[in-house]
Amino acid sequence: MIDAIKATLVEAVRAAGATMQQRVGQVTVQYKTSWSDLVTEVDRAVEEAVFDLVKHRFPEHGMLGEEGGGAFDREYTWILDPLDGTTNFAHSLPNFVCSLACCRGKEAVAGAIYDPSRDELFLAIKGEGATLNGHPIRVDGAGVLREALIGTNLLWDLRENRFFSLPELQNLGRQVRGVRSLGAAALELAYVACGRLTGFAQYQLSPWDFAAGALLVAEAGGQVSQFDGSPIDMSLPSTVVASNGRVHGELISFLRQG
Ligand code: IPD
Ligand code: CA
Ligand code: CA
Repeated sequence: MIDAIKATLVEAVRAAGATMQQRVGQVTVQYKTSWSDLVTEVDRAVEEAVFDLVKHRFPEHGMLGEEGGGAFDREYTWILDPLDGTTNFAHSLPNFVCSLACCRGKEAVAGAIYDPSRDELFLAIKGEGATLNGHPIRVDGAGVLREALIGTNLLWDLRENRFFSLPELQNLGRQVRGVRSLGAAALELAYVACGRLTGFAQYQLSPWDFAAGALLVAEAGGQVSQFDGSPIDMSLPSTVVASNGRVHGELISFLRQG
């Protein structure tokens, strides 16, 4: 079963990436909840295509997608963010990915994130490790926050409380080597897994933003939790902090103060 899941994950996210590459810079933007919450016809077309493939291969499995909803009501559930980084995509800024995970119950058993701009495929299988284009990856070796490069979102949607305040960001900036905001949470989690970022923290992400990325980080030797240190529930929106594990305690105590 896991080999068939893995093959489907890879096929689905690679096909999604090819569609994105064909259409980048040529899409119509629509607004969802606000002027900064975008969707394009590519988000919807990719979600439909990925779910058609999964349904064809695994008719008894459930689906949860950003554009089409869904629920955890089967033994296996596939969680899809068809296009993470839609704002980047709409602006031709090459930080956008397709993120797909397969869960058994609420535990991710496999996940893939594909970045078509760099032809980078991140893949994790529970208990078998994480790879980038077939090569094993590990989290970075920073031992303290002062050596850490941390990703987070900046002022994503001001109408909802989904961002660090400016004083909090300034405070974070004082504790770490640097703060980066790539505009695609799944990509940032993949970058924690391969050591390009030491950690990543964001208020309220949705399961499709973090399902594959959280498994990647864990399988690459890192740690993922909510801001209070408790485990993430794959079926619910959540605060997410991911790190190389070594700075996790320090990062959490900083986030708790915030
Ligand atoms: C968004 C991106 C962004 C994050 C938002 C997400 P979308 O996903 O990952 O970086 O800050 O919280 O909703 O809308 O591009 O799929
Ligand atoms: Ca997303
Ligand atoms: Ca999306």
